Amino acid sequence: MPNPKQIKFGAIIHGVGGNIAGWRHPNIQPDASVSLEFYTNQAQKAEQGKFDLVFIADGLHINEKSIPHFLNRFEPLTILSALAAVTSRIGLVGTLSTSYSEPFNVARQFSSLDHISQGRAGWNVVTSPLEKTALNFSKTIEQHPDHAKRYRIAAEYLQVAKGLWDSWEDDAFVWDKETGVFFDQDKLHQLNHRGEFFSVQGPLNIGRSKQGRPVIFQAGSSDAGKDLAAKEADAIFTGHPTLAAAQEFYRDVKNRAKAYGRNPEELVILPGIAPIIADSEEEAERKYQEIANLVSVDKALDYLGRYFEHHDFSQYPLDEPFPDLGDLGQNSFQSHTNRIKKQAKEHNLTLRQVALRETTPKPAFFGTPEKVADLIQEWFEKEGADGFIIGSAVPNGLNDFVDHVVPILQKRGLFRTEYEADTLRANLGIPFPENLYTKKVITQ
Ligand SMILES: Cc1cc2nc3c(=O)[nH]c(=O)nc-3n(C[C@H](O)[C@H](O)[C@H](O)COP(=O)(O)O)c2cc1C
Repeated sequence: MPNPKQIKFGAIIHGVGGNIAGWRHPNIQPDASVSLEFYTNQAQKAEQGKFDLVFIADGLHINEKSIPHFLNRFEPLTILSALAAVTSRIGLVGTLSTSYSEPFNVARQFSSLDHISQGRAGWNVVTSPLEKTALNFSKTIEQHPDHAKRYRIAAEYLQVAKGLWDSWEDDAFVWDKETGVFFDQDKLHQLNHRGEFFSVQGPLNIGRSKQGRPVIFQAGSSDAGKDLAAKEADAIFTGHPTLAAAQEFYRDVKNRAKAYGRNPEELVILPGIAPIIADSEEEAERKYQEIANLVSVDKALDYLGRYFEHHDFSQYPLDEPFPDLGDLGQNSFQSHTNRIKKQAKEHNLTLRQVALRETTPKPAFFGTPEKVADLIQEWFEKEGADGFIIGSAVPNGLNDFVDHVVPILQKRGLFRTEYEADTLRANLGIPFPENLYTKKVITQ
């Protein structure tokens, strides 16, 4: 008997991978980040595994120390449009920054993807943590908005995008060739938004999609990030080292959603994990070491530095306690840098240890398919997650998961054997959003 509540799965397709030296592994295709064939194969594999979605991360600033995947990769909406044509059921979620774009363009682009894919688009809303991003957008570093302001911009931006997506009621286009009526004038709405950051008249030049609007994902885990998700998002991406941390986050976000008057079940919490799966613990350890052994300490310092605005960690002694960085990191990846500092202090770690742990973390989801399936079930049943975004820490990580872990969860009735629906929203169990202009006012 299937469990009434089902686990959700997404697959992050991340080209040559998130490891700074992983591209040197003999089984990793070095041009994977710009290979349509690689992205197609991974998306089709995830769809074969009945995953809810594929996910494309993104950023807007690199330097020569960035990880290889960041140096040379696809723009998310472009690759997702191509993937829409070679898949039929899986959701297509792409990252786009609200700090360096305009709502009219972005609402239009995601709506187009939603139409191309017949209701499978999702937008991962991020706020661009790195201050030097400003230099790519005709601004100075000083003009990069601070953490709090970035989230205020994002909240208003989402209001504008949702308003634009509802410019046309669902049955606005009548296409009556007899009478010559293309659309019903009463079902066209002009937004006329004037706010702190945006001034947008509308209407948008594309109608609503099969799932109403693209699904909104959010990927910040600070207080401001959690609050934005609780207010505006359908799903939240996050990452936690332990079940206890995941449970705390889960409770917090669901409570925030309740406080905004929402049904907490309609906000899906998806931690990212990168399981290492093998026939035995020893084999999993061997796979892990193959990647870990490629990482020099210098590369690990580069990797760590990015989270702190590309800070130069080579200036500190490697085998002394992790340096005191003051407020550095507060304005970039706040939730992540806070965790790094806290763990270094709690466990008395040296700089070398912190850098290597961050670069090649040993995943909690590690070992035989049964063990990984057990852990997933535990996190799901104990309210640490509604589902997971699966990444590949080692070559073929996604394929191993689809071939060996998915069938176990299906047998346990915890994961679908067939798609329930053909839109991303419906597969995630999130209700169809009524058009803002047709929403009935309920009076007592
Ligand atoms: C699981 C996860 C995935 C993320 N993916 C992206 C991404 O693709 N692009 C990006 O610019 N930021 C990404 N971020 C960063 C956040 O959007 C956010 O800018 C950063 O975490 C700082 O905000 P915070 O302090 O609220 O967490 C991600 C964060 C998390 C936790």
